[in-house]
Amino acid sequence: MPDHTASVLIPAPESMKELCGKLPVNKITTFAVADELAAVAAELEKVFNVLGMNVSRSADKAIINFKYASLPDGAWQMSITQEGITAAAGDLSGASYAAGALAQMLFAATAKSLPDDALDCAEISDKPRFQWRGFMLDSARHYQDKEFVKKFLRILSVFRINNFHWHLVDSQGWRYPSKYASKLDAKGLWSVGQYTLDDLREVSQCARDLGIRIIPEVDVPGHSRIMLANYPEYTCTPEKPGAEFCIGNPETMNFIKNIFTELMEIFPDSPYIHVGGDEADTANWDACPVCRKAMEAKGFSTMRELENDFMIELTRFIISKGRTPIIWGTCSGQLYPADTIVQVWLDIREPLKVIPNGNKIIYSVHNSLYFDYPANLDEPWETWMFELSEKGVYMTDPYIIWPEKVKDATLGTEACLWTETVPQHRVLAKLFPRIFAYSECAWSAPENKSWHDFQRRKELLEAAGYMDYIKSL
Ligand code: ACM
Ligand code: ZN
Repeated sequence: MPDHTASVLIPAPESMKELCGKLPVNKITTFAVADELAAVAAELEKVFNVLGMNVSRSADKAIINFKYASLPDGAWQMSITQEGITAAAGDLSGASYAAGALAQMLFAATAKSLPDDALDCAEISDKPRFQWRGFMLDSARHYQDKEFVKKFLRILSVFRINNFHWHLVDSQGWRYPSKYASKLDAKGLWSVGQYTLDDLREVSQCARDLGIRIIPEVDVPGHSRIMLANYPEYTCTPEKPGAEFCIGNPETMNFIKNIFTELMEIFPDSPYIHVGGDEADTANWDACPVCRKAMEAKGFSTMRELENDFMIELTRFIISKGRTPIIWGTCSGQLYPADTIVQVWLDIREPLKVIPNGNKIIYSVHNSLYFDYPANLDEPWETWMFELSEKGVYMTDPYIIWPEKVKDATLGTEACLWTETVPQHRVLAKLFPRIFAYSECAWSAPENKSWHDFQRRKELLEAAGYMDYIKSL
């Protein structure tokens, strides 16, 4: 018995009822899409073309009908009968996910390993477990060109990722032009590559078309070596600039606010702005008279408190501009404004500290979701890495401990691809095949997950040529 064609879906749907009967693929000759969902027509056409199906668009009464219905964001439903297919969605994302699921079933139906080209009848109803299904790409350590970033977004959308966190600056590179830091245009890149403002607009448009939000990040007060090599006046040690801004100097905050104001102008429809906040070394601050004076004036006894205070002012500033700040959760001490989202990456106990304050969290714990880590030890790895197998990604769950305490405050998950060791030509090798596991971790309810069944589904899709199709998007 070949597998039922609706039993190949990744991520696993909320519910799927296998029915008797088949819809022969060669009977699918027409499709219609409701006006509200019209943008998915091109996606469907691409799949029909790749599979050599001759399907034309029709105004109504088609074999495939994509209808608008009142459903939650991203949710979709599909009924496959011997007569045809009806899909329903309440927004473009849901319609696109339904089209993606149909693509998987059509690949399975037309795979050579199956005896006949037909879709098995089924009723499917699906909705996301988490509203935040993120992926972070580090374009600072290694630059990826604009066309590659657009391809990356197209691939992410297949896996129902709806938030693209873009790590645009770091010690090794500043990847967009800034009028407040114009010296960086000439001297700002340790490795080659910088997006123009037109590139950023083009990538933003691509993301918008795919229903993906961009969350741009400027990482301060650490991770800023390249910026500070060009603007040493904002460091504690201008004669030998380090990677941290001088947080005791009031001019630093003005400079950083200007940078973020401009970032928000460059990304006018990004409701979330990432301010970094991770891994600053306190050594230069400890030795800096300006920082010491600021610390004492505020009544603090450690530089971590001064850093917290600095980041609180920055998050308040972002909020005052009508955006929501996101911060890597590693500072200790004072709490950020409740409107700040904390991205948990290092300490799984962090949610317990910040949730009572009203903060929401995004779960990115490194040994579960850092895609730069090797999938197995045959790959190159660095001392700071753990092994992160496909199985490890698959079993990741943000409710790992204290589910009742973290549940309501957890927006979702975000996988991160840092690129210290990953040039552009290795990015897809890092993504595949673990992205399949990640999509199920971010989308599917735990009770619908099964590692062995997931392996079966992935192998079927791979054998049907689906993985190659996605890589070619
Ligand atoms: C981080 O990995 N430094 C957020
Ligand atoms: Zn200082």
